[in-house]
Order: sequence, then structure tokens, then C-alpha cells
Amino acid sequence: MSSIKITNIDTVELQEGAQNAAFQEDDDDTSEASSSREHQATSFSFTGPEETVYTQIKPYAGMPKEVLLLYSSKACYRVPRELLFWLVIACTLALIATTITIVALSPRCMSWWQLTPVYQVYPRSFKDSNADGVGDLKGIREKLSHFEYLNIKAIWISPFYKSPMRDFGYDVEDFRQVDPLFGTMEDFDDLLTSMHDKGLKLIMDYIPNHTSDKHIWFQLSRNGTEPYKDYYIWANCTADKPPNNWVSVFGNSTWEYDEIRQQCYLHQFLKEQPDLNYRNPRVIEEMTDIIHFWLKKGVDGFRMDAVKHMLEATHLRNEPQVDPNQDPSTVDTEFELYHDYTYTQQGLHEILTDWRIEMDAYSREPGRYRFMVVECYDYEEIEKTMRYYGTSYAKESDFPFNFYLLYLPDDLSGNQAKGLVNLWMSKMPKGKWPNWVVGNHDKPRIGSSAGKEYVRAMNMLLLTLPGTPTTYYGEEIGMVNVNVSVIQDPFGKDDPSNGRDPQRTPMQWNDQLNSGFSDNETGTWLDIAPDYSTVNVELQQADPDSTISQYRALSLLKESDIVLSRGWFCNVWSDVNVFAYLRELDGLKKGLLVVLNFGMDTTTDLSSVSELPDSLTVHLSTVPISQKTFSKSRIPTSRGQGLLLEYSTNQRFHPNHASECYVSEKACYLPALDILYKC
Ligand code: GLC
Repeated sequence: MSSIKITNIDTVELQEGAQNAAFQEDDDDTSEASSSREHQATSFSFTGPEETVYTQIKPYAGMPKEVLLLYSSKACYRVPRELLFWLVIACTLALIATTITIVALSPRCMSWWQLTPVYQVYPRSFKDSNADGVGDLKGIREKLSHFEYLNIKAIWISPFYKSPMRDFGYDVEDFRQVDPLFGTMEDFDDLLTSMHDKGLKLIMDYIPNHTSDKHIWFQLSRNGTEPYKDYYIWANCTADKPPNNWVSVFGNSTWEYDEIRQQCYLHQFLKEQPDLNYRNPRVIEEMTDIIHFWLKKGVDGFRMDAVKHMLEATHLRNEPQVDPNQDPSTVDTEFELYHDYTYTQQGLHEILTDWRIEMDAYSREPGRYRFMVVECYDYEEIEKTMRYYGTSYAKESDFPFNFYLLYLPDDLSGNQAKGLVNLWMSKMPKGKWPNWVVGNHDKPRIGSSAGKEYVRAMNMLLLTLPGTPTTYYGEEIGMVNVNVSVIQDPFGKDDPSNGRDPQRTPMQWNDQLNSGFSDNETGTWLDIAPDYSTVNVELQQADPDSTISQYRALSLLKESDIVLSRGWFCNVWSDVNVFAYLRELDGLKKGLLVVLNFGMDTTTDLSSVSELPDSLTVHLSTVPISQKTFSKSRIPTSRGQGLLLEYSTNQRFHPNHASECYVSEKACYLPALDILYKC
């Protein structure tokens, strides 16, 4: 047994490599005993002659506590120890303070849906992999490199659920199955996996308002089987007298008499699309389960269809006519009534807010945020659209689609462009994220409604405004509407002027058979556009000045340039021809000026904009030009031209023109550290 024996107060005998049994005992002592010994040791180390004795002993591991205390109180040990102690405390505090400062000063990181354009794929028309003339999921998978080429990372795919295709997939027979026309669930899983492997996000179409009349719920509802009896909206009526004057979006009464149930059911779209009854909690549960089903599969978000139609007033009163003098029996279109009882009813936002909460539960892993966008045409009641952003206490969609740029061709001009952009920016709730749509499967292609010569300027507008742009397939190459030989769209069959086939024709990949869309020798579901041999992806990719090459250049710039992704947007000019705006960021000398011509050839004089330097460098022009720089007092643009100019200045425009400028989330740039901070 090792030991250290204290023989008397003058001599200390240390046995080499040993421990004193007395000290071992100490370990087991009560704290009172040990503290009394500590006291002795302390007082003992400070008393006269003993000190000399103990100072002759060199400290080493295993020394008795008294000796240790004696040495540890010596300045040469104590001072460095205390210094180190305070250093550790100071470093810890500094680290905490730095962390808090960084967190407090860092602007919020942007989510994936803010950093990329959204690309809409209409699956029937994108790529046919099995030569049946209709596009499918495998076809989309074959073309993933197209999105990579365009630098687009979010793909919204219009419905591919099992469907009788009366409204081409917007009439769902089974929300948990893929329609065989588009492939199998395995094809879907493969597509999703391949997309995720490539860093692409998949946004599904989700259709809450209605199902197909072939859906099992409707079949059971019409024969009164519980619990499905009230899954849809039924009212007493006779075959020739509907319950009220409500009209469908597709025209005529919203009510259809059902022989089996001998009642009328409500349909705000086709009669083959009966409206679900959201006053029935079971319906909400069922539809929520479907959201879970797809989120569990790993989809990255939903585009929610026709949400304003989800609830109707239960009293079923007639809606007021827009023209009170019109013969009520002639009222048969959506625009002849005020939809006080069928659109945006109370309770709607609560349902959407709850769905957002469900989606948030799947959004916790980094990079796995599940995105939600809603479709709502408010027809100029923009406050109604803005409400879908949610409120300060309840989050709702990430954004409602902004369809206002679709009105640009109605009065194509610089002033109109400015008006529409500013309408959204001025009405959008503070801190929310803007978005821009210039086309979709329901609206004429911008190349037709505005004119082919404006497509590039539209794309430049879309990709240089702050926020998320949505590009409908084919807009990147300037596809236009096609007068199809056989009408397929039920809306168009009823009234050809409303037909949506012209904007749904197959994607133009190359100048081969069926524009490379399909190998079917006998044709495709809709005609191929006659211009496909000159307007196609392959040809345009080979040309650095083509519409697609410019789209790509802008999309890459949007991602890489913080002025575009985080900077201020400010109006600087608009007239009948030109809309000009700048993008700038505090702390950064570089700014971008965008000059878009939506009218005729003109020259714009911006000499009154004192914050701009005189010389502006051409970054991109949608039409070939030889000039590399412009003076701000003479910026010539031709009809349909888009010009992206770069400049350097120490002066910011926004502090002097607050009413012309917007930013979603203010951030400043610190060049010394190459970082952004909240300011
Ligand atoms: C949405 C879709 C449209 C469809 C309608 C009914 O508006 O975009 O294509 O016909 O809803 O589902």
C-alpha cells in the first residue's frame, strides 16, 4: 500500500511513487472533516518556519492535499491559473455574444422556392415515352436535363392522378393512383427519386374543390350510402328547376339533377366535377389524408387548384346579377353574377391554414420545406388574393399565384407593365415574397396575346423582377398558341373562343417527327405547332442569341447575383413604350437597370435620375446590338427589346424615392467580409 507519512511538523517523509493511506481515507471522509483539514492545511502553509520545509518539496502527481494547496497558492502557479480561467470566461462570453450578433444581424436564409423559377409541366404535352401520342411521367424523367440546362429547380406538374380526363386530370377519380395514361406509381417514384438526385423539387397539383363524378365517394354519395351521403353538396330540385341561379365557371347552371338520388348536386366546373362539401368534417379529414399520402412519398409542395370555390353559402340564395335588368333566364356565365355566396366564403382560410400546419410538420429537416401555392383568380379584387399570404398570426400559402401580368397584353405598354407590377408590390403584405406568372394551361400564351416579338422582353421582366417567376412549358423557346384541328378541351367544345387547347400543344423539342415529343406515327393528342422546325429546343440551344439561351443566361444570373435575388426594386421610368426599373443593394456599388420596350422603337432619357451614373454597360440585350455602353440620357430600344444594363455608383436610389421602391426583406452587403446583414 502506498503511503506518505507526516512524521512531525518539521520533516516530511515521502515514500517514492506512493500514496499515503491517510489521504486515501480522506477521500472517504465527510466533507466537514476534510474542510477542517483543508483549513489546517491553509493556515499551516502560511505559518512561518513550516513554509521553508514544504517549499523544498517539488510538486508532483500524488502529492498530499496540504502540499498541493501550498504550491497552488504560490503566485507563479496562481497567476497563470487565474489568467487562464478569466481567458476561458472571456472567450466563452465573446463566443456567445458573436453568435447572438450573427443571428440577430443575419438576414433570413431564403428557401428553395425563392431561389429558382417554377416551371409548369403539362404532362400530356411535355414528352411521350411510349409513343401513344400523349405525354407521361417517364417522358418527364427523360427530360430532366432540360431543367438543369435552364437552371430551374422547381417543377410543378399538372395533375396525373387517375382520371376519366373530362378536364384532362382536373377531374380526379382516385387521388392515390397515377392514371395509366401517364404511367404507374412506380414511374412516379422513379421520377421523384431522379429529380431529388438532381436537386430538383417536385410540386404536385392538388385539387381540393371537386372530384370526378367517377370517384367512389360520389358513387356512394349519390345512392345515399353513409358516411358518403354528405360528401358532396346536394339540394332538392327538379330536373328542370335548379335550386338557385348560380352558374358554373364553364357556363350554365352549377346544378345537375341526379336521377339516382333525385336531387341536384353542385358543380362549379363541369358537371362531371361535383364539388366536395367542406362543411362536412369527414371531407376535410379525407382530403388532409391525401396531402399526407403525397408528403410521405416525398413531394416538395402543392399547387392548390381553384381554392376560392371550396365553400358555398348554405342558405343557397340567388346571387345578385351584375346587370339587374338582365333577363334572369339568360344569365349563364360566370361574369354575369356577383359571387357573394359561392366564392371565398368564411372558413376557407382556416382550412388552408390548417393544411399549411400539416405541411409544416413535414418541413422540419433542412432543405425539406414543403411549398404551398394557391390558384385564385380574383378578377381585380386583389385584397382577396393577398389574404392567401396569411396573416401576422396565421401562415397560409407561401404565395398565391400573381396572374396580373396576364393582363399586360390587354393594353400592352410600358405604363401598363409598371401599373401591374406596382399593383402587386404595393398591395403585398410587408415581408412577403412576390411572384409572377405570364402563362399557364388556362390562358393564351403570351407570345400570342402580346405578340411573338415581346416574348423575350416578357422573359426578361419575369426573371429580373424580385420574387419567384413561373414559366409555363414552351415559354422559354417562345411557343405560341396553335389553332388545333380537333378541339379536345370541354370548355372549348362548349364555346371555341374559350378553348384552352391552343396553349396546350406538345412541347417542341426538335425538328424531327412530332417535334421530338412523340414517336407515334399516327399523330399526337393535340396538333404539333406548325412552326416547330424553326422554334424548338435543339435548334435554339445551338444559338447563343436564341430565346432559350437568353432565358438560361437570365436564370443563371438571377441565382448568382445578390442584387437580383435580394436587392431593392425601384421604378425609374414608364411611358407608353418603355418600363424601366433598377435593382440595387445597400453596400454594393453595382446596380442593374432593366429597360423593357412594350411599345414601339424609342429612345429613353434617364438624365433626370441623378443617382444613376452617366455610363451604363450592356449586360444583355434581347436583340443583337453592337454598342457596349450607353449614356443614361440616350437609351435606345426597339419594339419588344429588353435591355439589361449594369452600372457602378456610390449613390442609392431608394432612400430618395421611397414610394417607388420595394424590398421583401431588407439586407445590406458588407464588402469587407463579403456577407449580407440585416439593416
Ligand atoms: C383550375 C385549373 C383548370 C381546371 C379548373 C377546374 O382553374 O387550372 O385547368 O379546369 O381548375 O379544376
